[in-house]
Amino acid sequence: MPPRSLAYDEDGVACIAGARIPDLASAFGTPLYLLDEGELRTRIANYAAAAGAENVAYASKALLIGRIAKLVAEEGMLLDVVGQGELEFALRIGFPAERILVHGVYKSPQALQLATKEGVGRVVIDSLDEIAAVAKAAHTAGRKQDVLLRLQLGVDPHTHPSLSTSVTLSQFGISTADDQALAAVRRALREEWVNLRGLHSHIGSAITDLLPFRRAADAMGAFISTAHVETGWWPQELDMGGGLGIEDGAPTPAQVAEQVRDGLMPFALDLGKPLPRLIFEPGRYLVGPSGVTVYRVVGRKRVGDGRTYLFVDGGMSDNPRPALYGSYPSLLPARSSDDETEVVDVAGQHCETGDVLARGVRLPVLSPGDYLIALDTGAYNHSMASHYNRVPVPPVVFVEGGVARPATRRDSLADWLRFEIGI
Ligand SMILES: Cc1ncc(COP(=O)(O)O)c(C=O)c1O
Repeated sequence: MPPRSLAYDEDGVACIAGARIPDLASAFGTPLYLLDEGELRTRIANYAAAAGAENVAYASKALLIGRIAKLVAEEGMLLDVVGQGELEFALRIGFPAERILVHGVYKSPQALQLATKEGVGRVVIDSLDEIAAVAKAAHTAGRKQDVLLRLQLGVDPHTHPSLSTSVTLSQFGISTADDQALAAVRRALREEWVNLRGLHSHIGSAITDLLPFRRAADAMGAFISTAHVETGWWPQELDMGGGLGIEDGAPTPAQVAEQVRDGLMPFALDLGKPLPRLIFEPGRYLVGPSGVTVYRVVGRKRVGDGRTYLFVDGGMSDNPRPALYGSYPSLLPARSSDDETEVVDVAGQHCETGDVLARGVRLPVLSPGDYLIALDTGAYNHSMASHYNRVPVPPVVFVEGGVARPATRRDSLADWLRFEIGI
C-alpha cells in the first residue's frame, strides 16, 4: 500500500509528497528512507477518529526517532516503549512520562527504577514475578505505580508464526489457560505499591482479518467477568494492543475498534459495569505505508538456473523483514516507462543467500544508476536496521508539501570507530 501521495508526474518521474524521488535520492544518497508526513498524520487521524487520540499508544518499536515521538506527543497520543533503551530515548527527547507505557517480556531493575522514578503512566507487567519487582521499584521511588497485566489469551491471529504473540507457546503475557492470570490479578490487588488499572492483550502483528480481534475481545471479556466474580475487581481500562495489517483489504481502525467494543460490551452489560476505557497500540498501520526506501541499482547477473539478479545498494541491513518473515516489499521503478520489461530477482549487497528483496518480479529493464522504490518500509525497517557488512544505516527524511527535512543522518565509519577500544 503506497502512501497516497506517491505518483508519477507528467515526465514519468515518481514523486512522494510533492517531491521527485530521484532528486531526493541524489540529494541525500541511497539507500534512503523517505517518510510522507501527511500520510502519517492521516493515519494517526484515522486511529484517533476510531478510538480518541488519547487512547492511541504509538508502538514505538515500529520506528522510534525523535521527530516521530515529538509528532506523537503533539497529537496528544500515548507512547508504548519496550525496555530501558526506548524508555530512556523517549524521556530524553521530552516525551511526557505520564503518557508512556513501558512494555517488555523482561524489564531490568534499572528500567523499572527509571520508570517508577520518572512517573510513567503505566508499566505493562508480563509475568507473575514482575508484580513484586514493580512494587519494589515503586516503593523505592516513593510513588504508587499504575500497572496493566499483559494476558496471554491463547488467540491465534492467523499471521506469520513469528508475529503471533498470544498463542499458548508464546513467551509473552500471563496465561489465562490455567489459574496464573487470576493469581496475577489477586497478587497485584494485594500490592500496596501498585495500582492495577487494567489489562493488556496484543495478539500479534500484520493481522489482515477482523475475526482475531473479535476473538481477543471475547476472551478478554470472559476473563474480566471471571476476575470480577472471583475478586470484585473491575478494570478501569483495557489495552487491546496493535497488530493491524496494511495489506489491501485489511480492516480499518474503526472496524477493529467496533469489533472490540462489540465483543466486550455484553460482558460489561451482564455485570452492570461500564465498558472500560479502550486503548489501542498501533505501530505498523501508522508508519508502515507512510515510508518507502529508495535504492540505487548497482549491477545485474544471470545465474546458473537462468534467472537474472538485479543488485541494489542496500538490503537486509536496512530491511531484515524478507529474511525474518518472508515479508517482501513491493518494488516500483523511480521512472515509469513503456520500455521493455523483464522478470528479475532483486538482491541486496550482503553476504547472505537470504538477502533478497524480491523474487520473480516484473520490472522495466533497469541499469546501474537507476533507482528502485520499496513500498511499506516505514515500520520495522529503520528500527531493525543493522551494520551488517559495515553498511551504514540510511537516513530518515521526512517529506511534506514538496519539502524534504532530514530527521536522522546516515551513520559512518567515523561513528563506528568511536566504539573501538585500543586500536
Ligand atoms: C505489545 C505490542 N503492542 C503493539 C505492537 C505493535 O504492533 P503493530 O506494529 O503490528 O501494530 C507490538 C508489536 O510487536 C507489540 O508487541
